[in-house]
Amino acid sequence: MGNKTLSGRHIVLGITGGIAAYKSVSLLRLLVKAGAEVQVVITPAGKEFITPVTLSALSGRPVVSEFFTANTGEWHSHVDLGLWADLMVIAPATASTIAKMANGVADNMLVTTYLSAKEHVMVAPAMDLDMFAHPSTTRNLRQLEADGVEIIAPAAGELASHLVGKGRMEEPENIFARIEAFFNSREDLKGVRVAITAGPTYEKIDPVRFIGNYSSGKMGFAIAEECARRGADVSLICGPCSLDVKHPSIKRIDVESAVEMLEAAKREFADAEVGIFSAAVADYRPAKSESSKIKREGTSGMTLELVKNPDIAAEIGASKKPGTILVGFALETDNEKSNAAHKLEKKNLDMVVLNSLKDKGAGFRCDTNKISIVLRDGEILDFPLKSKREVAADIIDGIVELRSGRRRVKDV
Ligand code: CTP
Repeated sequence: MGNKTLSGRHIVLGITGGIAAYKSVSLLRLLVKAGAEVQVVITPAGKEFITPVTLSALSGRPVVSEFFTANTGEWHSHVDLGLWADLMVIAPATASTIAKMANGVADNMLVTTYLSAKEHVMVAPAMDLDMFAHPSTTRNLRQLEADGVEIIAPAAGELASHLVGKGRMEEPENIFARIEAFFNSREDLKGVRVAITAGPTYEKIDPVRFIGNYSSGKMGFAIAEECARRGADVSLICGPCSLDVKHPSIKRIDVESAVEMLEAAKREFADAEVGIFSAAVADYRPAKSESSKIKREGTSGMTLELVKNPDIAAEIGASKKPGTILVGFALETDNEKSNAAHKLEKKNLDMVVLNSLKDKGAGFRCDTNKISIVLRDGEILDFPLKSKREVAADIIDGIVELRSGRRRVKDV
């Protein structure tokens, strides 16, 4: 461990009022030993559990807790701290702090700094099992995740209350490993052009009706954010969805139908070194869409004539340039792996990310996903159920490995 792997990195370590605050001392030591500059921000309740003297001695910086230092009247600027930080880690994060963060309740220095943080934020919850299992905590964590915060899930085990269950803060070594991984992986797509399709398509029947599907776009947006975090220039072509793009390196192109998505894809994928097809494209569209609303009166039934939509992945795959990596998705109900392998060949892809609708927590509208990655060399990698953000990281790790040549990629 003597390596200065975090040399020059600016980290704000937020500490809140939980028993696990004693573990923050070990985390702080690991960060400082790895060369990071660490500014501790502690809540008033946090100081009941661990003394600022210990923390400032280890970090070599005065600990910040209040907006003003009582005796000198010195003002601590949360905006400056937010700009200074390359990463903010809140460990331990109590249910109360998580709730405040999820709702923007900036009544202390720590949450105010969080609201000013420009870079990545990680949160390591720590609380008793009932508090962790409470619907409000679940809701608030989900909100934080939707806001782009990385949650370091608590481990199961014996808690300070002697109860056994989930809620114990992840061990400092594991949090440290996540921090190292964040900084290491950050640049592995630097300057790489990535194009992504995401969300559903809407195929117009008349001005008020369409054929669509349940895709939320969450997986594609998570992939776009992760690519951008790792330094890529991203074009995100998305069908109708209610998500926002956060990273400034993502160019968003909104489309509605499969035909519009194909037109945008032809432009955006032309010079992309990595192409990811995560959109749930409607396979068919109405043969004609009416310009006026179809009326109910005077009809006893209705037959819609449908025509086939273009296969965007297959069209882009057919003109793939050597060295480009193309990744598709397959959502299957039966013969999952052989269907995914067939799609890989048929569409000239390098990787297919397979979700089975049989897996609980996988597929449409969920915040989680369970995937297998099917590769050209026949290898299939199975992953456990994870948050879509973590799944995005796994997919991109696979892409980076393919690009590095560590895995054989067949250019066809
Ligand atoms: N895809 C696409 N354009 C289409 C259909 C699919 O770009 N018109 C892409 C999807 O984004 C996905 C992959 O192709 O990456 C596989 O999608 P899927 O719907 O599973 O495949 P289909 O070829 O439509 O096969 P199926 O008969 O199973 O629907």
